[in-house]
Amino acid sequence: MRQRFARKTIVVTGAAQGIGEAVTRQLIDEGAFVYALDIHRERLVQLSIELNKAGPVMEAVAVDISQRDSVDAAVDHIESKRPIDGLVNGAGVLFPRSFEAVTEKEWADTFNINVHGTFFVSHSVTRRMILRGCGVVVTIASNAAATPRMNMSAYCASKAAVAMLTKCIGLELGKHGIRCNVVSPGSTNTAMLAAMAGHTDERHRKLIDGDQNLYRTGIPLQKIAEPEDIAKAVAFLLSDEANHITLHDLVVDGGATF
Ligand SMILES: NC(=O)c1ccc[n+]([C@@H]2O[C@H](COP(=O)([O-])OP(=O)(O)OC[C@H]3O[C@@H](n4cnc5c(N)ncnc54)[C@H](O)[C@@H]3O)[C@@H](O)[C@H]2O)c1
Repeated sequence: MRQRFARKTIVVTGAAQGIGEAVTRQLIDEGAFVYALDIHRERLVQLSIELNKAGPVMEAVAVDISQRDSVDAAVDHIESKRPIDGLVNGAGVLFPRSFEAVTEKEWADTFNINVHGTFFVSHSVTRRMILRGCGVVVTIASNAAATPRMNMSAYCASKAAVAMLTKCIGLELGKHGIRCNVVSPGSTNTAMLAAMAGHTDERHRKLIDGDQNLYRTGIPLQKIAEPEDIAKAVAFLLSDEANHITLHDLVVDGGATF
């Protein structure tokens, strides 16, 4: 395995499962020390016990990213130990609901976590990066940020917001040597997808084949992504291999939103 992140300290939010967990594993395999942030404390602790068996490679930090004070305290704690080289904004929620049925609470929760949470973490971390004149941010948005999807209005709007937020941060902070990019996954085999579409082969087949009733065209590569497929794209943008890439949106969806 290459060691693109040797001696690097990376913060990953939403690290307890799914795509964030895959990113955490990939970065550690390539030499990083990861601060794994998530609201799901027990799962974080399990992951930390597993990954730290052969020596310290990650620290679990249980935090709700929608709470500004908790985020600032977590980032203060991390920075008191090691300077943060990179940030992956992975935490997110999806409440599948028709526009007519969506509640104000679901709308607010979606924005509080997906948008405000990403803002709080990015704001707190990049403040320190500015002082050092270097840093990298990758935000995991969605191909649903740019392609309208049925029953996902709050989610699509929130992902459009964080994708643009990330590009604007990149625009303003480029002069401080900070790169900011977006990874936009399509359907990926995680708990979030299972909650929306179910886990069965038949339901995955429907996503792959497309559904005219839902205005979905299907997935030309004929498969659902694994979390590791997304993690590889995130790691590339975080790494020095991407050192002249910023304000980019890398769509990783098997061609679904051509
Ligand atoms: N799975 C997909 O098909 C898909 C497609 C496109 C984009 N995405 C995006 O990828 C990212 C990861 O999704 P996933 O599929 O791995 O989902 P997931 O539900 O498996 O994981 C999301 C993680 O975020 C954490 N989280 C939720 N609210 C939080 C909060 N307030 N504070 C801290 N952590 C919180 C959860 O505990 C969980 O560990 C999300 O931003 C999601 O929107 C997923």
